[in-house]
Amino acid sequence: LAAHSSFIEVAYLLLNAELPTATELAKFDDTIRMHTMLNEGMLSFFKGFRYDAHPMAMLSAVVGSMSAYYHEEMDAANPVHRDIFAHRILAKLPTIAAAAYKLNIGQPFIYPRNDLNYCENLLHMLFAVPAEPYEIDPVAAEALDLLFILHADHEQNCSTSTVRMAGSSGANPYSAIAAGISALWGPAHGGANEAVLKMLDDIGDVSQIGKYVDKAKDRNDPFRLMGFGHRVYKNFDPRATLIRDMCHKVMEKLDRKDTPMFDLARELERIALQDEYFIEKNLYPNVDFYSGLIYRALGIPTSMFTVMFALGRSVGWAAHWREMIADSNGKISRPRQLYTGPVARDYIPVNKR
Ligand code: SDX
Repeated sequence: LAAHSSFIEVAYLLLNAELPTATELAKFDDTIRMHTMLNEGMLSFFKGFRYDAHPMAMLSAVVGSMSAYYHEEMDAANPVHRDIFAHRILAKLPTIAAAAYKLNIGQPFIYPRNDLNYCENLLHMLFAVPAEPYEIDPVAAEALDLLFILHADHEQNCSTSTVRMAGSSGANPYSAIAAGISALWGPAHGGANEAVLKMLDDIGDVSQIGKYVDKAKDRNDPFRLMGFGHRVYKNFDPRATLIRDMCHKVMEKLDRKDTPMFDLARELERIALQDEYFIEKNLYPNVDFYSGLIYRALGIPTSMFTVMFALGRSVGWAAHWREMIADSNGKISRPRQLYTGPVARDYIPVNKR
């Protein structure tokens, strides 16, 4: 899929379980393009945020507000409503994400354009200004499309499981997606791409790598090598390999001067992969290790990296919610626990404690 498909086609596959015919793809792409605008009232929420609000906080808040706009017409038992929900999530998240970025930089919100494809439109809404025409870089659009394909879905990861759990009670699916966005934000999950760049900035140069690798190995030190390790993958995350190769290509095509950061990442990867701690614990670069370097090369700020992850994963969340809600044998999620606390205790009056 990374070699031959597009994010919109992969989105169709995830939502329909089959790749589309040319006619189906054209119709689906058109549908998404026709749902990218927000209700103008939703835009007013951004006026309530401080200029430095984290974009993930704004994304989860405004996506959550979609449940207020679309609550009445959301009958989860109706397959047409389930389709409309998926189309709105896929189409509107980039518009909300770009609005959050524009708030952070004090620029006017840029409306979507229906003549642009998914990634071109996102670049346009992020970087265009009313004062002059904005020329979309095809290399940037191609890189984003591949990143969104690679982030689209990944089994029952933390944020997808959150969407399924929240949705299993019959809650409004837009609020379930907002819960998934919050779960993704954590540095142990989707927040890792932002944390990787902060870590590389802290390391500074190759001479400091050994110090940070030792910190990561020290059980008494909470520091983790961000972008390494995985709950499931105990070998190379196949996505990391594809992203690393694309990172190299993007750096060359954009003739980026900040390759020192990429060179530092490559050296950190080389050293870590030779270290017996990482070998013994099967710690390899994951999807987040190189993705941030590409976002930075495209001019996207670190604070927006996890937002980009959410845009790719949004269709996976929507697909999992649809699968879960359409399962007639489905039940509300209710994990059990093994209670290990004290057994029965008498109540002690407060003046005797
Ligand atoms: C994503 O689930 C998904 O599919 C997630 C994801 C997706 O597409 O949705 O793939 C996206 O979230 C990728 C992961 C991004 N997170 C990071 O890069 C943060 C850094 N990584 C760690 O926080 C950690 O690796 C986790 C949270 C990802 C996994 O944690 P686990 O399950 O505890 O890892 P493990 O069981 O394999 O750990 C084995 C040992 C442990 O030490 P011991 O208890 O045996 O002494 O390795 C240690 C861990 O403490 N360890 C690390 C480490 N990751 C694990 N030590 C140093 N640096 C690390 N990065």
